[in-house]
Amino acid sequence: WGQPLHLFPSVGSTQDIARALAEEGAPEGTLVIAEEQTSGRGRQGRRWHSPPGRGIWMSLIMRPVQPLQYTPQLTLLAAVAVCRALRSVSNLDIGIKWPNDLLIDGRKVCGILVESAAEDGYVRHAIAGIGIDVNLAAEDLPEELQTIATSLRMESGGEPLDRTLVAAAVVQELEAMYQLYSEQGFAAIAALWEALAFSIGQHLTVHTPQGVIHGTATGLGNNGELLLQQEDGRILPVYSGEIHL
Ligand code: BTN
Repeated sequence: WGQPLHLFPSVGSTQDIARALAEEGAPEGTLVIAEEQTSGRGRQGRRWHSPPGRGIWMSLIMRPVQPLQYTPQLTLLAAVAVCRALRSVSNLDIGIKWPNDLLIDGRKVCGILVESAAEDGYVRHAIAGIGIDVNLAAEDLPEELQTIATSLRMESGGEPLDRTLVAAAVVQELEAMYQLYSEQGFAAIAALWEALAFSIGQHLTVHTPQGVIHGTATGLGNNGELLLQQEDGRILPVYSGEIHL
């Protein structure tokens, strides 16, 4: 994976470039990286701050042959892969906040957005968009992100990291995790995810499109949904939402 590689100085969003390439038939593993995004996007319609030369803003084309309903599994797969890669290049204590934010000491260092297109209920292509705050300094963060975001550099005493090495580690782990997923199924990924996640065993408040719910996170369900145990013992599956630890 990582071939072919499309490198851009500045784009709107690497997601849009990768989607256009996928629609033209680009193979699985095709990677789009930009030095800067002028309209990077996050989950739930949010913007993704993507200043030039400081981070890794990338989108990877995947073509799993599977029903669309399994797409959340790919998001968790990407979170596991990036988490493992960042730990290996930095020695930082990086963990996953469900579903797919990577945090260091409660601050976000990476966000992941998987967008997919379907045909007859099957995935035609899935685009894994990954934004990693590698070398941002505190002054690169806009006011509203100062207390909630961080970067690998800020967490490593100000020493900048080689972005090429970080990106290579990420792509390598993505390919390895995808292979594990293809050979052993989602259960293998879920086990790795649970070991890297902060929220398992904790009492959580989750803001979902259906309202606010509380419960103790017990693990992941078959499609990557978070399982929340209620006070009366019932297990409630949560498919989308925002965790408040
Ligand atoms: C989130 O945490 O809300 C997800 C953020 C995803 C950001 C990445 S950066 C590369 C790719 N291009 C985008 O426009 N978004 C994703």
